[in-house]
Amino acid sequence: MSGKKKIAIFASGSGSNFEAIAKACLHGRINAEVAICVCDHPGAYVTERAKRLDIPVLEIRQKSYPSKTEYEKVILDELQKQGVEFIALAGYMRIVGDVLLKAFPNKIVNIHPSLLPAFPGVDAIGQALNYGVKVFGVTVHFVDQTLDGGKIIAQAAIPYDGNDREELETMIHAREHALYVSTLKSLLN
Ligand code: GAR
Repeated sequence: MSGKKKIAIFASGSGSNFEAIAKACLHGRINAEVAICVCDHPGAYVTERAKRLDIPVLEIRQKSYPSKTEYEKVILDELQKQGVEFIALAGYMRIVGDVLLKAFPNKIVNIHPSLLPAFPGVDAIGQALNYGVKVFGVTVHFVDQTLDGGKIIAQAAIPYDGNDREELETMIHAREHALYVSTLKSLLN
């Protein structure tokens, strides 16, 4: 027994946050083990990253089940088999339902690329750019039943007055990786 908390990371896409967290766990910077990656978009790049790091992946499509409840029951069953105690959402583009929220009270966190409550939902960076904001940012928060809602745990502000989306995205993702790792470190150690 390693004595480390077992966590699950849920992701839908590229998985750069997944990789940052998984490597921080592997190198002992976070006192946890990533027991499983749950991916609701089979074939997404995060599954490649997980395989490279030897982390088991559950690839599952919500639309294969009659309801979110049925879908989440299958996930919960797998998480319980793996002894998972904590969930980190990392680009998981779905609202978490009652089954998981009840099974993991105050034990599900999310990262979002804006200073919440501004710009929840899809393409927060594009929303903020279109709005013309001059201070961007990232937020880590506990998850509730609302879109990118729940008590805020940590935020970082990123002043930016340019118009180069790629440059801005690079800055935001780098800050996300650092903030998510440091927040998980303090929550799980
Ligand atoms: C990240 O920017 C994350 O904050 C965002 O998806 C991206 C995933 O990137 N999440 C949300 O927008 C949640 N509403 P990644 O797959 O490279 O980690």
